[in-house]
Amino acid sequence: MPNATGVRSVASNQNAVHADLEKLVRRYLGSQYQRPFAWHTIEAFKQAQSFISSFTEPVVLDSGCGNGESTFVLATKFPKHPVIGIDKSLFRISKSESKEQPVNALFLQAELLDFWRLALQAEWKVCYHALYYPNPWPKESQVGRRFHAHPIFPTLLKLCSNIELRTNWKTYAEEFLEASQIAINHLQVKATPVLEQWLPKDPETAFERKYLANGQALWRVKKKI
Ligand SMILES: C[S@@+](CC[C@H](N)C(=O)[O-])C[C@H]1O[C@@H](n2cnc3c(N)ncnc32)[C@H](O)[C@@H]1O
Repeated sequence: MPNATGVRSVASNQNAVHADLEKLVRRYLGSQYQRPFAWHTIEAFKQAQSFISSFTEPVVLDSGCGNGESTFVLATKFPKHPVIGIDKSLFRISKSESKEQPVNALFLQAELLDFWRLALQAEWKVCYHALYYPNPWPKESQVGRRFHAHPIFPTLLKLCSNIELRTNWKTYAEEFLEASQIAINHLQVKATPVLEQWLPKDPETAFERKYLANGQALWRVKKKI
């Protein structure tokens, strides 16, 4: 049930790492994801290519940036880097337009499943990849829609090994960690992800603020420091 803040904690019929996770991760490690690219994402990617060409530092990605709050935070944390906030929802990213845009930030409406593959093909250097509160697809039957149990996962890891995944569903974080460990060994990517509870002093995204106000525990998987 939603509480006074109108925010639900994740309700799922799955209370532990999915029984099929390892099988799915291993299956996709041996295959190529070949869905045709959406035209609007090809166009967005061209815009991104042009934007990053004026920077010498590697790219920071904020994937599924929603209303872009975290993109603003990242643009301040990484002032010399191009910071790209991507979301498929024009409604959400258009909310970022009401604020003054940092010169090193770009917002794009695009499909992540295509954008990540285009960036990998173009051999982008990505030094930090924010995946803050992706849709959890919490039903057990929806496991294949979660990024880490989807054919896109090898692309995601190859694009940048410094991923920070945040979620309010511990099982999602546990799965992301386990899937990463399996794939990292296979792909020989240099990364040591760890899972920890995350209690930010100041919320950095709209969903993070709502979850904190709702008293929910937050989790993250990130590079070991
Ligand atoms: C739960 S919201 C979190 C938004 C933001 N990161 C935050 O914490 O406030 C997940 C966001 O991911 C976006 N999204 C989900 N799947 C996507 C995809 N395949 N391509 C692009 N955006 C996607 C949704 O439109 C939504 O804005």
